[in-house]
Amino acid sequence: RALFGGAALVGGTAAATVWPATGAAAEDADARSGDDATVGSDTVPFEGVHQAGVVTAAQAFSTFAAYDLTVTEPRRVVGLLRILTDDIRRMTAGRAALADTAPELAATPARLTVTLGFGPGLFTTTGLTDRQPTGLTELPAFPAIDRLDPAWSGGDLLIKISADDPMIVAHAHRMLHKDTRPFTRLRWTQRGFLNARGAIAAGATGRNLMGQLDGTVNPSTDAELDSRVWAGADAGWFAGGTTLVLRRIRMDLDRWDELDPAAMDATIGRRQRDGSPLSGTREYDEPDFTVPDATGLPAIADFAHIKVARGDGPARQILRRPYNYDDTPTADGGSDSGQIFCSYQADIAAQFVPIQQRLAERDLFNQWTTPIGSAVFAIPPGSPADGYLGQGLFA
Ligand code: HEM
Repeated sequence: RALFGGAALVGGTAAATVWPATGAAAEDADARSGDDATVGSDTVPFEGVHQAGVVTAAQAFSTFAAYDLTVTEPRRVVGLLRILTDDIRRMTAGRAALADTAPELAATPARLTVTLGFGPGLFTTTGLTDRQPTGLTELPAFPAIDRLDPAWSGGDLLIKISADDPMIVAHAHRMLHKDTRPFTRLRWTQRGFLNARGAIAAGATGRNLMGQLDGTVNPSTDAELDSRVWAGADAGWFAGGTTLVLRRIRMDLDRWDELDPAAMDATIGRRQRDGSPLSGTREYDEPDFTVPDATGLPAIADFAHIKVARGDGPARQILRRPYNYDDTPTADGGSDSGQIFCSYQADIAAQFVPIQQRLAERDLFNQWTTPIGSAVFAIPPGSPADGYLGQGLFA
């Protein structure tokens, strides 16, 4: 569980816990701000069977950038992937990218990871459709809930940049964006955040912008990840890869605010206060859908988000790694906030789609959430030593 909590690996230098801090406490906290010197120097290994940034303890900041290819020849795409991999390898180790004019900014990687994804369009554009992983499929339409804006949807190539410091995310983004220019056209960029590192206890579940603990039920053991998230040996070049469904989901926070706390909890099936299921008392209590409430009805209603999402058991479980977004309020004064919902699974059609179909049909939560962007990507396995990300596809 600690693997997926918000802002894990915390340095234990929490400042004053009561706000506003006064007198000596305030001075103390002030003097201590910025003394967690390891945040900047921490690194996440680039090499590995899987790409970093999927099950890595979630970093506080992520930028997701999606591009369309403007080149079609596989050897040109290989050229792009080699350049990207070289710079990713450098920057995740705290070294400057090749053509970096501000190398000072690369010196504090703050657990930087960069994860590449291939949309279905990459396989068609390069004529490699026969090598498209079986787990990667376009989503069906969900007309009852989707209000998709093409400006937030699709893409041939995803670059996901995550770190505990927005400075390094911005810098790595600029370096990699420059790399892509001769080969691609930018499609969209989305920026998300979680709690700052150190703001909540190590391993604790983070909250989304509605205030709910979000991320309690997720596969976490190696056995669970191997069976539900990573593509197996039968996936050929894609073994060790995974797929990502990215949905930009807007929250109608202003209307949500009108609910009383009990209605909010009933909608999810868990208590906002501590994340406990309405059938239990603690966050990690197993939800029991047969336990009645005081009126004799099931404590977790049939329409509750966790009841509908859970469906037919753990075998189809997905790995949810959402980021929050909070943009400028709209012209009419409404909030523009929500979630960059990220779901990793071995097989989109077998795992994500049935869950989303059920939620689209009968999740009460749909009244306050609206998908406004949608994209799917194959996340290739880790790069071979001295090789490049996605190499197996072109071998
Ligand atoms: C559980 C929030 C969208 C699938 C939860 C929980 C919260 C939550 C608070 C309970 C705590 C937890 O286990 O993490 C949200 C919000 C969403 C959203 C705020 C959008 C803005 C989705 C979508 C899907 C999904 C689009 C899949 C298509 C699930 C699953 C669970 C879950 C599988 C765990 C259910 C179980 O207990 O087995 N979500 N969710 N959620 N959600 Fe969502």
